[in-house]
Amino acid sequence: MIKIAITGATGLIGSKIIELLNNKFQFIPLPSSLMDITNKDQVYQILKETNFDLFLHLAAYTNVAKADLEKDLCFKINVEGTKNVFEVTSFKKKKFIYISTDFVFDGKKENAPFFETSTPNPVGFYGETKYQGEKIVKNKGMIVRIAYPYRNFFPKKPDFVHKLKNFLEQKKELKMIKNALMTPTLVDDIAFGLKYLIKNYTPNIFHLVGSNAYSPYDVAKIIAKKFNLPLSLIKETTYEEYIKGRSPFPQYSNIRSLTNNFFPMSDFETGLEKITRSQK
Ligand SMILES: NC(=O)c1ccc[n+]([C@@H]2O[C@H](COP(=O)([O-])OP(=O)(O)OC[C@H]3O[C@@H](n4cnc5c(N)ncnc54)[C@H](OP(=O)(O)O)[C@@H]3O)[C@@H](O)[C@H]2O)c1
Repeated sequence: MIKIAITGATGLIGSKIIELLNNKFQFIPLPSSLMDITNKDQVYQILKETNFDLFLHLAAYTNVAKADLEKDLCFKINVEGTKNVFEVTSFKKKKFIYISTDFVFDGKKENAPFFETSTPNPVGFYGETKYQGEKIVKNKGMIVRIAYPYRNFFPKKPDFVHKLKNFLEQKKELKMIKNALMTPTLVDDIAFGLKYLIKNYTPNIFHLVGSNAYSPYDVAKIIAKKFNLPLSLIKETTYEEYIKGRSPFPQYSNIRSLTNNFFPMSDFETGLEKITRSQK
């Protein structure tokens, strides 16, 4: 059985990967309490003693909205942390998978859609640090970009589906962007796509993303319909209005894949159906 050392195992995505694939691979979770990736000596010490075939790197500073206010911490975790774990993995001549994000792209309408071959040009600090992480790994390890992940309810960090659902349940009005796109991705699909990529490892870039892009406005409507919540609470806004006073993020995040001919990714309606079935 392939032995996988995994960071970010306690997170929204890592915990699901382990839940779905732990009968296929042997996971060795490396929580920050055991190995703080920003601590070079500790990384060296722990990884020297750990026997693994592949390093799956999910750990990151993921608070996009706060990244601009905590630049040092975000840089330390996403850039220096990635460098630390990648260096030791390379030294041990093991495989490495870096989980990245659609936020490495600028989201400009004229550049969309974004493929594995598109050139990153991040618009916010979080995206900038994730792109710097990619540069450390590029051509030597695998880069897997994902976008707007959602899954069954994960109380520790509710995803955008559960956040929007919760607002609507509390009868709060939502102002949703009409002139933007996002590519919602079912985390279960990410896990099963990764299963293939782990078994067929190559040091290339892959996009594991949902099969369709939607405006945030349409996403909210689809959620409201699915959970029988009032559509009237969903109002329109523009990207320009919405980003006032916020960190910038890619506007037209329509992410496509040229290389995923191995796992069919769900569209948003199908993915929502799957998570509601598993929540019943
Ligand atoms: N969520 C999204 O919307 C999204 C979208 C695109 C891409 N991604 C990427 O997907 C990956 C996973 O994201 P996620 O949302 O599942 O993460 P998450 O739920 O926010 O969890 C973050 C994880 O990072 C670990 N971590 C943070 N600082 C660390 C440190 N100094 N040392 C070791 N571990 C540390 C945490 O471990 P402990 O709990 O042990 O501290 C935790 O497991 C990230 O690389 C992210 O950039 C996420």
